[in-house]
Amino acid sequence: MSLKLGDEFPNFNLKTTAGEFQLHQWLGDKWGILFSHPADYTPVCTTELSRAAKLAPEFAKRNTKLIGLSCDVVENHHGWIKDIQAFGGPNVECSGSICKLVLPAEFPFPIIDDSDRKLAKHLGMIDPDEFDTKGLPLTARAVFIIGPDKKLKASLLYPATTGRNFDELLRLLDSLQLATRLPIATPADWKVGDKVMVPPNVKDEDVKKYFPQGVQIKNDLPSGKGYIRMAQV
Ligand code: BEZ
Repeated sequence: MSLKLGDEFPNFNLKTTAGEFQLHQWLGDKWGILFSHPADYTPVCTTELSRAAKLAPEFAKRNTKLIGLSCDVVENHHGWIKDIQAFGGPNVECSGSICKLVLPAEFPFPIIDDSDRKLAKHLGMIDPDEFDTKGLPLTARAVFIIGPDKKLKASLLYPATTGRNFDELLRLLDSLQLATRLPIATPADWKVGDKVMVPPNVKDEDVKKYFPQGVQIKNDLPSGKGYIRMAQV
């Protein structure tokens, strides 16, 4: 099965480093990011999970829960988490102008044991080029962003050879969440605070209602068509 944008994300029963639960119940009314990695105790995956753990407070600020996944068993995940935390080193915690280095007490998100490859197969996450020592298939670097309505809002699929950019996932989340509040689209390389684009389906008569600070229309293009409408929100 391949999930399409807008499809309901399946409510799997999960075995994880934080116990067993159903995905939807665990998510509650929050956004969710389910992301897979090829295997525990591998170099690129260690950098990825370390970065995700460092950015966990930023995802939490965006009302978003993270959950990892690979075809390794939960016991391996627990062992590997110690390596991830050692690799990532201490966190910097500041109160006013005083900062200190603090070793993370616990890992900030669960990792799913998909050793039976149920989710990997169901969600189309299998990497055709990666196998474990027994010749069993491994997961690629998939990302699923799930909205509070449990629908799929965005997905990415990278091969094992390319580690993901977790700052980009935050940027994507910022864009998705802003687009739930206003009829906007965000341009290339947009970040919070930059101007947004007004999509073609927003009628001129509705523009004032949504963008009281006004809209700038680029009308010096060769076509003379004023389809590039930008607004500060
Ligand atoms: C890695 O995480 O370094 C990795 C895992 C599987 C294949 C290639 C790289």
